[in-house]
Amino acid sequence: MKIIALYSIKGGVGKTAACVNLAYLASSQQVPTLLCDLDPQGASTFYFRIQPKPKYNSLKFLKGGKRIDKAIRGTDFPGLDLLPADLSYRNLDIQLNGFTKSRRRLRRLLEELKGRYDYIFLDCPPNLTLVSENVFEAADVILVPLIPTTLSIMTYRKLIQFFEDAGLDAGKLRPFLSMVESRKQMHRQTIREIIAAKLNPINAYIPYCADVEKMGFYRAPLTHYRPASLGALAFAKLWHEVKTRLLKEPPDGH
Ligand SMILES: Nc1ncnc2c1ncn2[C@@H]1O[C@H](COP(=O)(O)OP(=O)(O)OP(=O)(O)O)[C@@H](O)[C@H]1O
Ligand SMILES: [Mg+2]
Repeated sequence: MKIIALYSIKGGVGKTAACVNLAYLASSQQVPTLLCDLDPQGASTFYFRIQPKPKYNSLKFLKGGKRIDKAIRGTDFPGLDLLPADLSYRNLDIQLNGFTKSRRRLRRLLEELKGRYDYIFLDCPPNLTLVSENVFEAADVILVPLIPTTLSIMTYRKLIQFFEDAGLDAGKLRPFLSMVESRKQMHRQTIREIIAAKLNPINAYIPYCADVEKMGFYRAPLTHYRPASLGALAFAKLWHEVKTRLLKEPPDGH
């Protein structure tokens, strides 16, 4: 079981768009995959047309065990399950404080799902909080969407610094370029800076494309309803690279 987080301190950079599409691609050919929505905005939950059960909330999530089993929902896509989030997840940070080993709680909860899933994707809220620290402990790979701007580079450097100061494994962090508009001189320039600064982005990048925005309308992954579109092909390349180079799995293996 591999745990893949889509994370950034910054908001609105393409975490959810990537999480939804990569989880869908990972689950194709019915490979057991779970998308765990950790964001009180519940955007991934919305994209898969899922409503959390009325009695489910963040505290039940943190208590784990059967409460999580009951909350996991199947999506419209074979192999792909979703653990939904709702507004109660805004309390996760405060509630985590009440648990011993509060930084390792998520890791423990997800370990209980070992054997059931080949992949678990974490759609993370923006910010750098105790929830984020749980993600850093739990994930095998942390994919960080970078919109090519100077501020993105600065924030990403701060994240690396945080990992180093906290004694965390910065090797888990891998940025990828998101919402790239190559006709913009500023984007081209910043991408050169990102490469020169050895921030080591994944080769595959996600272009800016209106098709991605339409996921809110179709409420399904772009890679499902328009698999030959530019955006969908970019997500497919990204998943291929993550799977074969970061997770070091053969392209058609599980
Ligand atoms: N490649 C893209 N091209 C065009 N629009 C995009 C692209 N990726 C994401 N978007 C749009 O940008 C907005 C933010 O994307 P998304 O929700 O994936 O970001 P996020 O990092 O998860 O945001 P948050 O921090 O709020 O969770 C959405 O409206 C989405 O449809
Ligand atoms: Mg999001």
